[in-house]
Amino acid sequence: MALNVVVGITGGIAAYKAVNVVRSLVLAGHDVHVVATDAALRFVGRPTLEAISRNPVHTELYEGVAEVRHVAIGQAADLIVIAPATANTIAKLAAGIADDLLGNTVLASTAPLVIAPAMHTEMWQNPATVDNIATLRGRGVHVVGPAVGQLTGRDSGPGRLEEPEVIVAAALAVHAEHAARLAASGDLSGRRVVVTAGGTREPLDPVRFLGNRSSGRQGVAIATAASARGAAVTLIAAHLEVQPPSDVALVEVSTAVELQQAVADAAVDADIIVMAAAVADYRPTSVAESKIKKETQGDTLELSLVKNPDILAELGAARRSGAYPRLRLIGFAAETEADDAALLELGRAKIARKGADLLVVNRVGWNEGFATDGNSVVVLDGAGAIVSEAAGSKMSVADRILDAIVALG
Ligand code: C5P
Repeated sequence: MALNVVVGITGGIAAYKAVNVVRSLVLAGHDVHVVATDAALRFVGRPTLEAISRNPVHTELYEGVAEVRHVAIGQAADLIVIAPATANTIAKLAAGIADDLLGNTVLASTAPLVIAPAMHTEMWQNPATVDNIATLRGRGVHVVGPAVGQLTGRDSGPGRLEEPEVIVAAALAVHAEHAARLAASGDLSGRRVVVTAGGTREPLDPVRFLGNRSSGRQGVAIATAASARGAAVTLIAAHLEVQPPSDVALVEVSTAVELQQAVADAAVDADIIVMAAAVADYRPTSVAESKIKKETQGDTLELSLVKNPDILAELGAARRSGAYPRLRLIGFAAETEADDAALLELGRAKIARKGADLLVVNRVGWNEGFATDGNSVVVLDGAGAIVSEAAGSKMSVADRILDAIVALG
């Protein structure tokens, strides 16, 4: 499908490479409209960009006023790619400044925005730029690069514009993901979805607890994506490290037993329960009334733990005996097993034991799975067959998991 792609070019020496970004998009069959800043045109000539893009190049805010060009270009865009994006443009985008045609185009658009920064390392690492990039990422802007390598002068380091073919491939992938999300929007409408997220904490005494490293990112992404797809979402949250979405009913819990109660309450009218939370398998047999003191404990301290209820397995068992007939139950298995085949075998045994409809299996470790933006999962069905494999941002993985849930009917 030919897309209407706006390529924003800003004033950095890497602007000459934007010609290849435009060319690759045109050769891939897309309709490309260049919006260049005045500074960009000092580095690369308008005739070059017009010849390569096969369209007029726009720079002026006060041209084409009758056709309301300052918003028309952005409204018509399916995708906006800014390459190179200078530190100045990144700051303006973060602040929502619209003092030129590119700023207006971005503000007037709901299309996915991909930026490829290019600047000297010091500018890229400056706290102002770091904050601006974080702001943009938080708004869903996709940042490609910068690459590490030779810069304009004699210096080298992070700040080099990513290669044009990498920028184009990333931008088209972002568009494809956005389109898939839009196509899926509404396919959970009218369904009540309960998502558990985060990690439980089991108190030892008034100041200490046994916990785990789950940040809640994957569960929050599932809640966010389910809500975007039209579901009425209840998010049962145990110690999230990320902001929950504002359009879900939030129930905050701390311990496994509290989570069990919250799930039981929410299960009554749920259509789908996704158990993404990392629930402690054991809790201290008793909680000390006051702080445990090393002065009274001596050199060793033995903890006695008692098993927590397995909430997922209990729900699975309740279903087997006829409760919740229309409920779809999805469990997670976070395992440290290094071998792929063995990891899947653990997953197969787990879904059989828990009685879930789907099990999302992922590998976790010291550096894997937790508190990261990306994830890689395999989704098994009740018979242990692989129904989906997904890798990418936790948001895109969330959508693939929801696709598998929707396919259950
Ligand atoms: O048995 P394991 O902890 O590996 O199972 C993980 C799955 O079971 C997750 O979906 C988790 O939310 C759920 N679980 C639970 N109650 C527990 C432990 C895990 O519901 N006590």
